[in-house]
Amino acid sequence: MKNLISIRDLNADEILQLLALAESLEKNPAQISLTRRVMAAIFYEASTRTRMSFESAMKRLGGEVIGMVGTSGTSVEKGETLADTTRILARYSDIIVIRHPLEGAAKYVSEQVNIPVVNAGDGANQHPSQSLLDLYTIKKAQGKLENLKLALIGDLKYGRTVHSLAYALAPFEPEFYFVSPKSLRMPSHILNDLSNMKVKFQEKEKLGKIVNEVDIMYVTRIQRERFPDREEYEKVKNAYIISADLLENAKDNMKVMHPLPRVNEITTDVDDTKYAYYFDQAENGVYMRQAILATLLGEAK
Ligand code: CP
Repeated sequence: MKNLISIRDLNADEILQLLALAESLEKNPAQISLTRRVMAAIFYEASTRTRMSFESAMKRLGGEVIGMVGTSGTSVEKGETLADTTRILARYSDIIVIRHPLEGAAKYVSEQVNIPVVNAGDGANQHPSQSLLDLYTIKKAQGKLENLKLALIGDLKYGRTVHSLAYALAPFEPEFYFVSPKSLRMPSHILNDLSNMKVKFQEKEKLGKIVNEVDIMYVTRIQRERFPDREEYEKVKNAYIISADLLENAKDNMKVMHPLPRVNEITTDVDDTKYAYYFDQAENGVYMRQAILATLLGEAK
């Protein structure tokens, strides 16, 4: 593993190795030291969890962090290109973690520099480290990854986390319900890829009884910032709201996940139920990102 740009670059064995390392690091973080290694966190887009869990992961393994949060105060404001900015930061660091609004930006950066690059989200395309922490979370919750029934709910068009997650789970024989408004369906190229991989899925507009059938409800925010037309957002912004009473007949071991941030799609009364798992999911980001950093920096044992 040289970079982490797309979840599709990893096979099932490589995914399972990362999950095993994350589990081992959660139990014993002292086994790996990244002392004197520097991570450049380059975030052209807003982030709380991804940036800070990568920073926490690096620091807890003894490493250092430099970076930028938005472009304010950097020479991007003077017109410096993405290529030049990242070529320079590659001389100041050992690994680059980048979030950028343009699809393909992380891959482009990986072609400009000779240190590992992690895609921390490129537009509506991919968010592979999120998918790996999602798999880690699902395995912890269900004890396995194979043969699970999952509902992916909300903005399946612009939501990069669901794009990556669908591919990440594909080798483990999942059964998906893709629940979205018509205008926010999973992109057809992804549906075609899943069909070619013989993954079972159904597209639905209504949640209905699906809530009582699935092992995982993976809820997503309607991605307001990616809508070209504000009116279109207004039409779908309240499409799905998961509340505690909706979960009354859910399976005992069902877990509600969400990459966060949430707006209104999961009401806070769900937080106190046994189904809520999104805060644990966010915490798992640290262990999985430690595993990713150690692996890409050649320190995984
Ligand atoms: N899950 C996720 O990507 O969250 P942030 O946008 O806060 O990083």
